[in-house]
Order: sequence, then C-alpha cells, then structure tokens
Amino acid sequence: HEQQKVKITFVKSNGDRIEATGKVGDSILDIVVNNEIDLDGYGACEGTLTCSTCHLIFPQKVYDMLPDKPTDEELDMLDLAYDLTDTSRLGCQIIMTKDLDGLEVRVPSTITDARD
Ligand code: FES
Repeated sequence: HEQQKVKITFVKSNGDRIEATGKVGDSILDIVVNNEIDLDGYGACEGTLTCSTCHLIFPQKVYDMLPDKPTDEELDMLDLAYDLTDTSRLGCQIIMTKDLDGLEVRVPSTITDARD
C-alpha cells in the first residue's frame, strides 16, 4: 500500500524557502535527513534529545494542534536553544501526520548545539 506523502516548507531567517516531502510517520528530522536539506548543523544528535540543533518555530495554530506535547526532556533541551519562542519545538520530536501536510516552519537564525 502506498504511504501517504506530506509536504513541509522550511523558512530560513533570510527568507529562503525550502520545500520537502516526507511520509506520514516521519519525524521532521527524518525529512531533513532524507531530503538532504542543507541546514547547518541540524539534527546533530540524531534525535536523541541531547543537542537542540533541530529547533523549529511553529505557527501558533499548528503548535496548538500538535498531537504530542513536549516532554520534560524536550523542554529542558529547548531551554538551551537560541531564539526560543512560545511555539518552539524540537523537530526530531515531531512526527508528521496527515493533518500536518503543508506545514510551514521557521528555522531560527542560529542553530546551536547544546553539547558545545
Ligand atoms: Fe538533537 Fe533533536 S536532533 S535534539
């Protein structure tokens, strides 16, 4: 059976838009990796919640409908992210659903690795 495709657009701080396609069940980190998207340092810890380089900023209404609320571990890691907002999440923790098809997320201007 064919897996459902979902689209996502990454908007960089300089206004560049990068469109990518993934499947339902992929994390946003999976999509960045699978599409070989060039976001400097993104996903350095490969989704093990130890880096915060996968920080993304969601539109408020999307943030509110995300099925999984952030865990304490994610919140601790987000605290270390640069440019933190009220609608920030870590991309490695967000699993794409059909409802998230067409998602647009902002990439913060600075990607920091909490392990540095
Ligand atoms: Fe490191 Fe998400 S990839 S915390």
